[in-house]
Amino acid sequence: MADNNAKLNVGGNAHDFDVLDGSIGPSVVNISSLYKDTGMFTYDPGFTSTASCESKITYIDGDEGTLLYRGYPIEQLADHGDFLESCYLLLYGELPTKAQKDDFVSRVTYHTMIHEQMNRFFSGFRRDAHPMAVMVGTVGALSAFYHDSTDITDPHQRMVASLRMIAKMPTIAAMAYKYHVGQPFVYPRNDLGYAANFLHMCFAVPCEEYKVNPVLARAMDRIFILHADHEQNASTSTVRLAGSSGANPFACIAAGIACLWGPAHGGANEAALNMLSEIGSVDRIPEFVARAKDKNDPFRLMGFGHRVYKNYDPRARIMQKTTHEVLGELGIKDDPLLDVAMELEKIALNDEYFVDKKLYPNIDFYSGITLRALGFPTTMFTVLFALARTVGWIAQWKEMVEDPSQRIGRPRQLYTGAKLRDYTPIDQRR
Ligand code: ACO
Repeated sequence: MADNNAKLNVGGNAHDFDVLDGSIGPSVVNISSLYKDTGMFTYDPGFTSTASCESKITYIDGDEGTLLYRGYPIEQLADHGDFLESCYLLLYGELPTKAQKDDFVSRVTYHTMIHEQMNRFFSGFRRDAHPMAVMVGTVGALSAFYHDSTDITDPHQRMVASLRMIAKMPTIAAMAYKYHVGQPFVYPRNDLGYAANFLHMCFAVPCEEYKVNPVLARAMDRIFILHADHEQNASTSTVRLAGSSGANPFACIAAGIACLWGPAHGGANEAALNMLSEIGSVDRIPEFVARAKDKNDPFRLMGFGHRVYKNYDPRARIMQKTTHEVLGELGIKDDPLLDVAMELEKIALNDEYFVDKKLYPNIDFYSGITLRALGFPTTMFTVLFALARTVGWIAQWKEMVEDPSQRIGRPRQLYTGAKLRDYTPIDQRR
């Protein structure tokens, strides 16, 4: 329990601010009256010390390497549960009973198809478009198709919009993939589970039967669980900020997808696999480790380091296990990239630079190898992340919209530009 107030001296005047305690984790100083009281703002680029909201959904202890969804450790959810159960938990706060789960699964399943006219959106994209570009466009386009679920002040419409997004994201992601590889779209199959249906839509073709391997479907499902939410990261904060203006929910999720695309965020698994390919063999690792440590070289070990985790990312451990399961099931005995990854991990975890800076493998370090073994090209990796994270974005968006004290997000700035000056006519400018 922290002291219940904090003092700040500004220009010789002391100001008191409340300290608010969470259920676990650091307390916060409530500085919402700072400007009114002192005429000053706080300055925290990158929000390294700023809590932007109150939330009951996900908790991370970066020093311990802990990740909880609604209080449940990610390891337990990944070992014993399935993705749709985690979705229910994130959205509604409790694990479902059997009846609640059956009802939720059937409602999600009911929404898996997308409006037939949406198909035409895909053909508007160049064949070589990055599937994330296609995702940003097509998920944003959902806002033009489902007018009956966009009134965010109506709880029923919010619920329908949420289920639609969770249900339709695999269909859209699979269509982005099929378009990318030039194959016909495969419609959803509601007799399959969530992950199995997704694999079927990605890898089935009309000319032959495709049987989903249950071990691979389980691995896919676990990958979705690991990516489902991660508290106030860049894309989630983007969704919250977009949603704070009352924007269309589908458009808010499209904004989250756009943010996730960056290589410092969701694009890291693609970047990590590219890096492992570039390293190519174990004997070249020291050269790349030296580059990562060189201040004059912008190169970073992709899949290492995290803004919050200053310990092993708990998701990375589960992902490493999943990697071995998938490679084992597919009979891949020697994967040179896995050899490079395991050796690189060993070297970095014993290197003073990485130890001192607390740089540990994050989830993206192993996910690329697994997704590639499942048959996905690197360009699809971030798409799969977006598919899984959609439920987290929606749960966070819903929590925000349902908070009666919610206001539009409006950060302030430290202005360092030109002071007031008069307009100069063009013939007098130099
Ligand atoms: N390789 C080498 N050095 C690194 C790495 C890395 N992967 N990550 C951080 N560092 C160094 C930085 O150079 C910096 O050194 P300095 O203090 O001497 O200047 C120090 O560690 C701290 O790094 P910051 O960039 O300040 O840390 P921040 O918290 O802002 O960044 C980030 C976190 C973006 C994830 C960073 O570690 C990184 O770029 N990693 C590689 C990309 C990656 O794997 N991203 C995935 C994140 S997980 C996700 O989105 C699911």
